[in-house]
Amino acid sequence: MAESRFDIVIFGATGFTGQFVVEEVARVSEEEGLTWAVAGRSMDKLQKVLTQASKMTGKELEEKTILIADTSNYESLLEMAKKAKVILNCVGPYRFYGEQVVKASIEGGASHLDISGEPQYMEKMQLMYHGKAKESKVYVVSACGFDSIPAEYGILHALQKFDGQVNSVESYMEFHTGPEGAAINSGTLESALYGFLHAGELKSLRKSLFPEALPSFKHKITKRSAFFKSDVINKWCTTFLGSDKSVIYRTQQYNHLEGKTKPVRYITNILVKKTRKDDFFKILLTLSPSCKV
Ligand SMILES: NC(=O)c1ccc[n+]([C@@H]2O[C@H](COP(=O)([O-])OP(=O)(O)OC[C@H]3O[C@@H](n4cnc5c(N)ncnc54)[C@H](OP(=O)(O)O)[C@@H]3O)[C@@H](O)[C@H]2O)c1
Repeated sequence: MAESRFDIVIFGATGFTGQFVVEEVARVSEEEGLTWAVAGRSMDKLQKVLTQASKMTGKELEEKTILIADTSNYESLLEMAKKAKVILNCVGPYRFYGEQVVKASIEGGASHLDISGEPQYMEKMQLMYHGKAKESKVYVVSACGFDSIPAEYGILHALQKFDGQVNSVESYMEFHTGPEGAAINSGTLESALYGFLHAGELKSLRKSLFPEALPSFKHKITKRSAFFKSDVINKWCTTFLGSDKSVIYRTQQYNHLEGKTKPVRYITNILVKKTRKDDFFKILLTLSPSCKV
């Protein structure tokens, strides 16, 4: 791999999440001896992000390289990919902007990591680009965020620590908010909404990706109503509709096909709480006006 490549290029560094990634990379890169650059479509905004990250971390970042790349310009994505060993792609919704970055990364010889929580995008990318990525000896890894690192690690932990055959893992999630209440950023909300609206695409995608279904589980879990009181935690819950289930299914499929481990059934729940009226309105207000349903 060419020496001139940056170890990491953060694409979408100006976004809500991208800015956290910049700060974290700034913190750990020195210790790890990593070179890095930021990328996006606005030089001015990227410069401001570096200035802000410099204030937050106390690191000298004003001279960091800025690469200009736009998802509507494939050549600019390819140029960016040729300058990176790994692209941390924070540009979403991935349904709209992800594929061209994955394609350019593979062509340009860079590995691609993203924080997508969109099952249709992730499974489509695996279906279309797994072989090409393998040929180019690069990795395409999705869901490197809240979706779905805790779920993956949780199952690994259970497999390692449970003294017996793990049949199913069930997780319970509870949201806590500070005095200002809850809010969700528009980019994330938009991605989630499009995901729900197009969930129907998953069936045919999955059939092509995994023609053979996982063997049925020996110990069935009793069907529950949409809202149920868990006898494990003694609180009211409902199914969490995030992407964890889909991500875990892909891991279980892979492990099963490779003959590594017996598949584990995964169920995710979220605790039901009373939502404050002003929280609910805040969430609605963040809905992007460009979100066409
Ligand atoms: N897995 C997880 O746990 C997790 C957590 C958080 C977020 N996410 C996902 O991460 C994605 C980003 O979320 P966010 O809330 O950070 O969104 P955001 O604040 O709206 O940021 C979007 C970023 O994409 C850039 N962008 C948009 N269109 C572009 C284009 N045509 N070319 C180049 N850059 C473009 C924006 O650049 P400009 O500044 O130039 O507009 C901005 O940097 C979403 O898909 C979200 O679901 C996942």
